[in-house]
Amino acid sequence: MTSQPASDLRADTLRYLEQQKRRGVRYVRLAPGQLEELETFSAPARAETPSTPAPLRISTKEMSPEKKAAFEALRTRVLACTKCEHLVRFRHNVVFGVGNVNSEIMFVGEAPGADEDEQGEPFVGKAGQLLTKMIQAMGFQRSDVYIANVLKCRPNVETAYGNRKPTPEEMATCLPYLREQIQLIQPRVIVAVGDTAVKGLLPDLKEGITRLRGKWLEYDNIPLMPTFHPSYLLRNASIATKRLCWEDLLAAMEKLGMPVSDKQRNYFLSALPNQGDRS
Ligand code: URA
Repeated sequence: MTSQPASDLRADTLRYLEQQKRRGVRYVRLAPGQLEELETFSAPARAETPSTPAPLRISTKEMSPEKKAAFEALRTRVLACTKCEHLVRFRHNVVFGVGNVNSEIMFVGEAPGADEDEQGEPFVGKAGQLLTKMIQAMGFQRSDVYIANVLKCRPNVETAYGNRKPTPEEMATCLPYLREQIQLIQPRVIVAVGDTAVKGLLPDLKEGITRLRGKWLEYDNIPLMPTFHPSYLLRNASIATKRLCWEDLLAAMEKLGMPVSDKQRNYFLSALPNQGDRS
């Protein structure tokens, strides 16, 4: 094998990446450490590359300083919101949202629970930990994506299953904040987890999440994938149900032009008792 000068490698790599970008490819996989090598091309190639490749997101989408300022102004307004007195009295924190404001994918949930209320961050409790695992299984870090809820304050009554659902009035009051977040972030894909999140954004829908999941919908011209809420997966953890949810996430990856490895494509399949039984 002949060695190639670093400058040629660099030019070839850039040419290849530009070509992929023109073709609509938005992600390439790199093994950990390869990014540094690509950036400098000065260090000798590593003798060993770890076997699990990490994704590199190639996103040219940048948020302008004006939009950043608008996002901060929105955040300030939401954190000071006192529209729902009963929730203001109960809450410890307003849970605005977290993540990359330039993200091409946004996850939307229902409302903060006790942990989220305590920490001021969405999806940090048990359901949140599962959502984080799902996000990571897609090849993202949690900080790569944006996560928000329909309701920014914790509903003030607990039920046997945890939070009560937000009322239609609470959702109508709070929803403009989520709408503004989406308008500013302009994700290419929204994943709405659970019936309440889907109906919060698309109130005219009548079917339940079991029928809605897996079918692309649209919110404000943005493709929206409804899927199961992670807390539902924690309570009804059949492999078949997890696989369905995973298929929804695979669809989101494909919509974004992300590469899907064989391993990712096959998650849960080998554990299904009889694949022919799934409908
Ligand atoms: N469930 C949600 O829908 N959102 C959270 O932030 C936490 C749990």
